[in-house]
Amino acid sequence: MKRIGKMAGVALATMTVAGCASLMVETDYGKVALDMLKNDFVSKGPATVERVVNQDEAQKLCSDYPLERPAAISAQIEAGQMKTIKLPADGKFLGKWQEGEKIAQSGRGMQSSDAVGSVNGGNCYACHQLTKEEISFGNIGPSLYHYGEMRGQGEAILNYTWGKIYNAQAYNACSNMPRFGHNGVLTEAQIKDVMALLLDPASPVNK
Ligand code: HEC
Repeated sequence: MKRIGKMAGVALATMTVAGCASLMVETDYGKVALDMLKNDFVSKGPATVERVVNQDEAQKLCSDYPLERPAAISAQIEAGQMKTIKLPADGKFLGKWQEGEKIAQSGRGMQSSDAVGSVNGGNCYACHQLTKEEISFGNIGPSLYHYGEMRGQGEAILNYTWGKIYNAQAYNACSNMPRFGHNGVLTEAQIKDVMALLLDPASPVNK
C-alpha cells in the first residue's frame, strides 16, 4: 500500500511538472500582447489602433526574431524594404536646410493630440545629434554632426542617405529608425529639406 502510494505521488509530480512545461510552451505571448493592445488601445485622431496592431511582413519577421536573427532573414527583410524606396521624381535630392532643421526639431504629427492630416515632423533630434547649437538630443542613433562634410555629395551618398531616411530597414533589417518615406511620415519635399540639412555645406550640421 505504502509503495503504491509513493509511486502514485511520483507519477503525480511528474505529470504536474510536464503539465506546467507544456503550458509554458503553448502560451503565445505575442498573441496575448496583441490582444491586450486590441482591447485596451483606443483610436484617437491620427493615432489609430490599426497602426499599432497591423504589422507588415518586415515587422512580423522582426517580432519573430527579437534577439537573434538568421542572416538570411535579415537579407530577406532588407531586400523587400529596398524595393519600396522611391527616389525624388525630379532627380533633385536637396531642398532647403533651414526647413530641414525645423523638420528635425519637430516631434509633432500622428499623435492623438494632432489633427488628422496635419504636417508631421521628423523628430531626428530625439535620436541623433545634428548641430553644435542644439544641445538637447537623444543618442539611440549615431551623431550626424558633420555628416555631409565627412561624406560629400557623391551619387552613392545621395542614394544611400535618401534611402536610409525613406526606409531605414532597407539598410538595417529591424532598425529602430522610423521609415519616414515608406510610412508617409514625411513627404518627398520634406525629405529633400532634411537631406539638405545633412548634406548642404552651408547647413549648421557641416559647420
Ligand atoms: C527613433 C530613433 C530615430 C529617429 C527619430 C531618427 N533616427 Fe536616424 N537612425 C537611428 C538609428 C538607431 C540609426 C543607426 C542604426 C541604423 O542604421 O538603423 C540611425 C541611422 C541614421 C542614418 C545613417 C547614419 C550613417 O552613419 O550611415 C541617417 C542618415 C539617419 N539616421 C538620419 C535620420 C534623420 C534625417 C532623421 C529625421 C528625419 C532620423 N534619422 C530620425 C534612429 C533614429
